[in-house]
Amino acid sequence: MDRVQVTALANVSGVIAKAETTFVTGPSGSGKSTLLNIIGMLDQPSSGTLTILDQDVSRLSDRDAADFRARHIGFVFQSFNLIPVLSLRENVEFPLLNRKIASRARRAKAMEYLDAVGLAEFVDRRPGEISGGQRQRVAIARALVTEPTMVIADEPTANLDTKTSRDIIALLDRMKSELSTSIVICTHDTSLITPASAVINIVDGQTAQE
Ligand SMILES: Nc1ncnc2c1ncn2[C@@H]1O[C@H](COP(=O)(O)OP(=O)(O)OP(=O)(O)O)[C@@H](O)[C@H]1O
Ligand SMILES: [Mg+2]
Repeated sequence: MDRVQVTALANVSGVIAKAETTFVTGPSGSGKSTLLNIIGMLDQPSSGTLTILDQDVSRLSDRDAADFRARHIGFVFQSFNLIPVLSLRENVEFPLLNRKIASRARRAKAMEYLDAVGLAEFVDRRPGEISGGQRQRVAIARALVTEPTMVIADEPTANLDTKTSRDIIALLDRMKSELSTSIVICTHDTSLITPASAVINIVDGQTAQE
């Protein structure tokens, strides 16, 4: 902020394992989103390091960070963030557009991922023509279509009912196993934490001792 310096995170350390689901939990304002933005390379830490695939990525230029992010990180947002005028297929194809990949192969890849999240029959609909849970499944297909090293999801179920929330977490968990992707999910709802997942608990911007 202009006059006040806010320390959102301090003394945070941890490891996100390959092909594992990690939940980031903690009270409102504790620093979960800040941590996810740093892990997802949307923000840079003012000190400390972030290492992904043995590379220190915490001080890359904006351009190099954007390249690295596009290759290795997928995002799922609380409010889905689909493009309303595009069909579901076009939404899922979107992250592949600036890659050297033929349009037919791109289309096939989008169809494959929409099928994997159970939406094969809806590919020509637009986001406004499906339910909230289905929109989040499209967003998951879009995050995974580039086969990223890691998927970051900040409160992906906050706009969904309890059953749909569980289904969405189960879907992320299943895709992680199939694709060997690391999934990082931030949630204040600890009942969503699945067995065998890692948990990073943030309290007042610090990793709490388990
Ligand atoms: N743009 C900003 N300017 C100033 N302070 C900020 C800004 N964004 C976040 N903060 C502060 O940083 C701290 C961490 O915020 P953060 O958004 O990471 O919390 P959170 O754990 O994600 O909370 P929630 O569960 O409500 O989403 C809070 O004290 C917050 O007030
Ligand atoms: Mg948050």
